[in-house]
Amino acid sequence: MIVVPGPSSTKLGGKVAEILGVRKVDVEYKNFPDGESYLRLSEAVSGEEVALIHTTYPHPDKRILELLLLINTLKDLGARHITAVVPYMAYARQDSRFREGEAISINTIFRLIEGAGADEFITVDVHKEFSLKVFGIEAKNIRAAEAIAEYLRGMDLVRPYILSPDRGALKIAQSIGERLGAEYGNFEKTRDRISGAITVKGERVEARGRDVVIADDLISTGGTIASASKIVKGEGARRVIAVCTHPLLVGDALPKMRGAGVDEVIGTDTIESEVSRISVAQLIAKELSKS
Ligand code: R5P
Repeated sequence: MIVVPGPSSTKLGGKVAEILGVRKVDVEYKNFPDGESYLRLSEAVSGEEVALIHTTYPHPDKRILELLLLINTLKDLGARHITAVVPYMAYARQDSRFREGEAISINTIFRLIEGAGADEFITVDVHKEFSLKVFGIEAKNIRAAEAIAEYLRGMDLVRPYILSPDRGALKIAQSIGERLGAEYGNFEKTRDRISGAITVKGERVEARGRDVVIADDLISTGGTIASASKIVKGEGARRVIAVCTHPLLVGDALPKMRGAGVDEVIGTDTIESEVSRISVAQLIAKELSKS
């Protein structure tokens, strides 16, 4: 196997290659003056089993196009088996037609990935696993909870409560909670499908004097975490720690969460950000070594 780290995952791709002890083939990358992407594989890939690692944030549309160009180039140049590893899969939240006439964007993108020549697909904490069913190739979702729980174990949490801000991320909170032997639960979130405004409500959490870990698959504007944090801080939480797999951190997400009482924000390196303190490299390497 060889690892090809795409331009958006050079660090993570390098780590995965190192863990697996395999050759890394770099991608030469630049932007043309008009914004188009130039991509070139720096070594021959003919006959190779390739793990292409390329995340799709920031600039999701551009990153997705680069992903497709790289898969198709690997195919053209004779790679024997191509596993597209997309640590953060953009557009995965648009997995249904919530309003009449909407694009089910993730279905189209998955069909394009397969059509470009991928033989296998791996991602991390995709928004909903059912979306992977559109693939005709093998598609796997890695859960980052193991790595997140391991990190939290080293934090000396006081009577931790693991809280999902909505029903969707309850599985993540549950998995972290069970690994830490901590209580877990969820709030309920509703979103206005036109304005995007959210409302977070929930059963009372006995938060007084405890460290509350709010866990979600991703943090975008920080609004979801901020709303949940205000509630638990209002109930007397000692510390609020926000953890997520994908730290998109759009605009003022960090100050917004801090202003709502969040003491610490922690994410993984599916997206390189200032809060990416947990690496998913081991989990990706483990999955690739099974293939
Ligand atoms: C959606 O349900 C996701 O799991 C996240 O809760 C959401 O996308 C976070 O977005 P934001 O940070 O903008 O509230």
